[in-house]
Amino acid sequence: MSIGIGIIGTGTVGSGVLEILTTRTESLSRAAGTPLKVARVAARFEHELAPWKALGIPVTTEVATLLDDPEVHIVVELAGGYDLPRAWVTQALERGKSVVTANKAMLAKHGGELFPLAAKNGAELRFEAAVGGAIPIIRALREAFIASDVNSLACIINGTSNYILTRMFQDGMGFEQALKEAQAAGYAEADPTFDVEGIDAAHKVALMATLCGGRRVDFEKMRVEGISQITAADVAGAKELGCVIRLLGLVEVHPTGVDARVHPCLVPQAHPLAGVNGAMNAVFLDGSTTGPSMLYGKGAGKMPTASAVVADIVDVAGILHRKSPVHDLSWFGGEEAPLFPTSDVEGPYYLRLQVGDKPGVLARIAKVLGDSGISVSRLIQHEAIPGAEGVTMVVDTHVVREGALLEAIARIDALPETVAPTVVLRFYEKGVGA
Ligand code: HSE
Repeated sequence: MSIGIGIIGTGTVGSGVLEILTTRTESLSRAAGTPLKVARVAARFEHELAPWKALGIPVTTEVATLLDDPEVHIVVELAGGYDLPRAWVTQALERGKSVVTANKAMLAKHGGELFPLAAKNGAELRFEAAVGGAIPIIRALREAFIASDVNSLACIINGTSNYILTRMFQDGMGFEQALKEAQAAGYAEADPTFDVEGIDAAHKVALMATLCGGRRVDFEKMRVEGISQITAADVAGAKELGCVIRLLGLVEVHPTGVDARVHPCLVPQAHPLAGVNGAMNAVFLDGSTTGPSMLYGKGAGKMPTASAVVADIVDVAGILHRKSPVHDLSWFGGEEAPLFPTSDVEGPYYLRLQVGDKPGVLARIAKVLGDSGISVSRLIQHEAIPGAEGVTMVVDTHVVREGALLEAIARIDALPETVAPTVVLRFYEKGVGA
């Protein structure tokens, strides 16, 4: 049986979802255990639908047509807003169709009626993309941490405000300019006051707090402060105190109730949340059996959010097809993957050489490196230690192929001036300054 997907909304996230579904159809169908196809796309205007119509996908400007389409088994709501999506999701669920959405505002406001409706109709209502974009925090709270009471959680869950605060701290950029950049990068909400006044974060925190505490948290009753009052003076003041300013979502589950809040905080620079820069998001949680954990990733933007939507679609398709979201891993027993040769790995390297302290040694080593096309970034020669054999020389290279580097090291180690085998370490710099 093939599973038909109906997409409502072709904006930033909707078009990302369509791009993924139409280009990765085979691998996604394999994960779902059944063929997936985009059965229909709905948007307000014909011109928004044109690229998808050109691919042969049935399109409509009437959401009702999509909801009525018997080929649509999973309705993917990506239009945003509170009330219209609520009506569409209600209709889909009442017809027994499962729903995947990224709409945190709708769920924070109407989740109290929509989740019971889904259960009543035997349908799924999935929302991984609504909180933290590509970070699988909803799955973590629903599944991975099920053996724990997560009574404490702190998060950076609005990429736009984190981007603004980071730019103010690192580059001395003004608030308005930083907001403009976040908007241009596609992180901000249609109404950016949702981002800078903490409302978007509050929607997400209400959903997480609900999962942590096991009772619905109403975001309208939460204490919510944004970052619009933060000035360069506050950022400088925080710096003087060894802190950064972050818009934090905070959840503490008490026996008497749930403390769920969003407001700016001074965070000591040594705290893992202080290292979450730019539009990145992170959720730091403390489980009763797991201890502290931090999930970190892209919380906004077209493809990270679209990717979470598609993951939910695949899960729901698996449930509709074989009553299980667990991806089929029987192919594990099949063909083995060829391992990439480490000699072709490229990167900067640290070398520690132990060589005789004589004229001409440095020139000989430099010649070996130069002949192998290895460029030196830094070179430090430590002072000779009385009694020790030779001197220590530390070399950092620019990016080099490991195979070429190891050949050069073999030649250096064969020089009569080298008194001990050279130590080679790799730098790991991926993700720095994300
Ligand atoms: N406006 C949101 C943010 C997008 O900046 O994090 C993701 O929900």
